[in-house]
Amino acid sequence: VQDGNGVKGMVDLGLSKVPQPYIQPQEERIDKKNASICAQAPIDLSKLDGPNHEEVARQIARASETLGFFQVVNHGVPVELLESLKDAAHAFFNQTPGKKAVYRKGVSPSPLVKYGTSFVPEKEKALEWKDYISMVYTNDAEALQQWPKECNIVALEYLRTSMKMVRKLLEVLFKNLGVTLDEPELDAIIGFKMVNMNFYPTCPNPELTVGVGRHSDMGALTILLQDGIGGLYVKVEEDIPDVGKKGEWMEIPPVPGALVINVGDTLQILSNGRYKSAEHRVRTTSSKSRVSIPIFTMPKPTVKIGPLPQLVEKEGSRFREFLFQDYMNNFFSNAHDGKKSLDFARA
Ligand code: SIN
Ligand code: FE2
Repeated sequence: VQDGNGVKGMVDLGLSKVPQPYIQPQEERIDKKNASICAQAPIDLSKLDGPNHEEVARQIARASETLGFFQVVNHGVPVELLESLKDAAHAFFNQTPGKKAVYRKGVSPSPLVKYGTSFVPEKEKALEWKDYISMVYTNDAEALQQWPKECNIVALEYLRTSMKMVRKLLEVLFKNLGVTLDEPELDAIIGFKMVNMNFYPTCPNPELTVGVGRHSDMGALTILLQDGIGGLYVKVEEDIPDVGKKGEWMEIPPVPGALVINVGDTLQILSNGRYKSAEHRVRTTSSKSRVSIPIFTMPKPTVKIGPLPQLVEKEGSRFREFLFQDYMNNFFSNAHDGKKSLDFARA
C-alpha cells in the first residue's frame, strides 16, 4: 500500500475510499459524537513569575496528577513562531514524494532525521493515517546542517524556547513531590530531545480510520503544537470532578497561541505513579489536512530510570528500574496499544 509516498502521496493520487490496510477494527474507531470537549482553561505561565505563583503551580500539579494533559499560554514561545512552524510543516509535506522519501529509514542521509508513515507499520493490524518527519537534537550545528531546510531554523527555535518552559514546569512538578533536582539530574531526565512534524491528510472515511491510535508517550513531558483542525483526544483514567468521568474520551480543543503539554511514561514512573501519563489518540477528517508538531523530552538512553528514591521510601516502589534505552527499544518494537508500554516498567 505505502511505497514510500506516504499517506499523503496516496491521497494526492485520488482516493474515493480508504484502502483496506487502514480500516480500523470497530473498537478502535473514533465516534466524534461520543466525546466531550475538555473545558479546563489554559494555564497562564507568565503568572509563575508573579504573586500568583503558588496558585499556578497548583494548577500544573493538579492537571498532571489527574488528566495528564493541559494547555498553556504565555509560555515564552513566540506566537509568530507557532504560525511559522505550521507553515514549515505544510511546506515540508507539500513537497513531491521523492523529496521526502530521501529521509526514509535506511536511506536517510542523516541518522538524526527520519521520514515515515504510521507508527510501526510491520506490527500494526491497521495502519495509522499519518505521515511524519522526526528530527533528533544533538547540537545546534548538526540540527541546522542535517534537519530538512524547509523546517530546520524554526524547529530549532521552537525547541530552544520550549525547553526554558519545560525546565520551569519540571521544577514545579518535582517541587510538588518534595524533590529538588540539580542541573545534571534534570539533564539526565530530559537530555534527549526530538522534534516531530506530523501530517494527517484528508481522509475519505474518517469514521473508519485513526490518525494515531491509542497510546501514551514514553518520555518525560511532551510539548505539542496543534493547528486549528482539532481531533486530539485524551482518555480520563479516573473520575475527575468538574472535568470528566472515568473511561471517557475528551477532545483537547485547539486554542490559538496555546501549546498542549502532556505527561509521558517517564514522569509517571519517576513520580511513582503520582503523575499520569495520559492515553491519547487522534481522529482524521475529510475536509482539511491537519498538522501537529510535538517536542519529546526524554531521558538519555544510557540513564537508569525508576521511581525517585525519596518517594519509594514512603510509598514502596510501584515500578522497577531499567535503562531508558531498553524502554525505548520496547516502545518502538510494538504497535500503539494504549498504556501497554508502561508494562515494561512494572515487571
Ligand atoms: C501523538 O500523540 O502522537 C500526536 C498528537 C497530535 O497529533 O495531536
Ligand atoms: Fe502522543
